[in-house]
Amino acid sequence: MNLQNSVYNKILLHLKAKESFDFEAYKLPMLIRRIDNRILRMHFGTPELYYTLLQNNQEEAKELVNNFMINVSQFFRDSYTFEVIKKRILPELITQTIAAGRNSLRVWSAGCARGEEAYSLAILIDEYCKKEKLEIDVDIFATDYDSSALEFAKKGEYDQSSVEEVKLKYLKQFFKQTNDKYIINTVLKNKVHFSQYNLLDQNSYAPSDSIYGEFDLILCRNVLIYFNEEYQNLIFEKLYKSCIMDGILILGDAEIPPKHFGNKFQQIDDFCKTYRKKHNGH
Ligand SMILES: C[S@@+](CC[C@H](N)C(=O)[O-])C[C@H]1O[C@@H](n2cnc3c(N)ncnc32)[C@H](O)[C@@H]1O
Repeated sequence: MNLQNSVYNKILLHLKAKESFDFEAYKLPMLIRRIDNRILRMHFGTPELYYTLLQNNQEEAKELVNNFMINVSQFFRDSYTFEVIKKRILPELITQTIAAGRNSLRVWSAGCARGEEAYSLAILIDEYCKKEKLEIDVDIFATDYDSSALEFAKKGEYDQSSVEEVKLKYLKQFFKQTNDKYIINTVLKNKVHFSQYNLLDQNSYAPSDSIYGEFDLILCRNVLIYFNEEYQNLIFEKLYKSCIMDGILILGDAEIPPKHFGNKFQQIDDFCKTYRKKHNGH
């Protein structure tokens, strides 16, 4: 599709001017699908009428940007990946941390949506540390661009459909159930620091909350798929810089590292996208 003269181009340029939304970074068919979807759902008529409305409505511009942020997630999404985290990655990373004389494990959930992924990790880490009677500090940073998803995450109230993959013992230990909601308990909530961070930010390679990055474990799952190749490289550069040597990076099942980074990470499990950062990129 030739975007140049289309109304979609005008809509996207408007979002760039008013909301600083960096639309060039995202895959165009996804953006157009989401615009059409919003017009249809809200009965805004044609894209041309919608563009007229948008020009006088700042709130709608914000809503449209939020509409591009696809927050679909679930606790223990892709359950095999979480089995690998539990059985292999956590024991190896914590042994490595202790052997290096460090007393803290640093984790980043990049593109955390409504917090399901970060809380799932917090559950597994808590379980492992208790089982092994370990007294190490654990810092879990969870970031997203979408401020409303982050508010939801901090509140920690989920529907049945979000917790379908959560084992009964975890539901009992870490959630309170009221009517049809599952609410994260305060102990678990306090283990995750949520903050806003744009993965396209050119001035930093890690969220400012974490101060210096240096993560042992990074999850950036089902995020890269929305971006064009050039911007996938930009985001990957951040993930690479902010991961410690021998640290672990986990991508979504449909994602792989961009070509340029192929020799900098080694895949450690054949059936899920888990990678160890190599020494000297060889
Ligand atoms: C499908 S969710 C992934 C959630 C979780 N990681 C998972 O795999 O279930 C994709 C997330 O990427 C976030 N996202 C999109 N663009 C972003 C950007 N520029 N910076 C940070 N997060 C972004 C969206 O807001 C959304 O919450």
